[in-house]
Amino acid sequence: MQTDLNKSQTRMNLMRAFAGECQSRQRYYQAALIAQQQKLIGLERMFRFTAEQEERHAMVFWKLMKDAAGQTVDVTAGYPADVFEDIGQLLDASQKEEEKEHVVVYPDFARIADDEGFTEAARKFRAIAEIEKEHGTRFAYYAGLYREGRLFRSDDTQQRWICLNCGHIHVGSEPPQECPVCSAEQGYFIREAEAAFTSCEVTGK
Ligand SMILES: [Fe+2]
Ligand SMILES: [Fe+2]
Repeated sequence: MQTDLNKSQTRMNLMRAFAGECQSRQRYYQAALIAQQQKLIGLERMFRFTAEQEERHAMVFWKLMKDAAGQTVDVTAGYPADVFEDIGQLLDASQKEEEKEHVVVYPDFARIADDEGFTEAARKFRAIAEIEKEHGTRFAYYAGLYREGRLFRSDDTQQRWICLNCGHIHVGSEPPQECPVCSAEQGYFIREAEAAFTSCEVTGK
């Protein structure tokens, strides 16, 4: 049986999740601006891409609080003050936060929601936890490339790089310092496989 949302722990957990997602969105947006200042446009786009998803997660939790409309929900929660300028630190902190959401916070909220009979909320907590896992993997991947100085370097001499500004493809172990087509700086290049929509192929189906 479902508990009254306004007498439940799930109400506070939904508000905590909403607040957490709003903050994640803001943190990644700020990180995007720092990446942009450092001319790391691929990382800027990656942070923005993730920030937009966090915004959508916030909306999912927001909508689940319809029965609490008009009320003030008090929450107690800890949120990270990841005020870093260093991209490596920002990536590490983001990865850590995603892991916490995926491993601890949302599974816990899901279990409580199930106990209280909020099956839809439980399902959403679990589904979003899975997305946060992907976010964590992505941040860890870029943290590794950044640390190892491999954002613009590959062992593969046939590596395909795409300019995010004009779409030019460069094949080689390193993208050019400047795009030969649009003159965008090297920071616009990412591995082609990392770009959205680039693995489209006609498969005959
Ligand atoms: Fe999220
Ligand atoms: Fe996330």
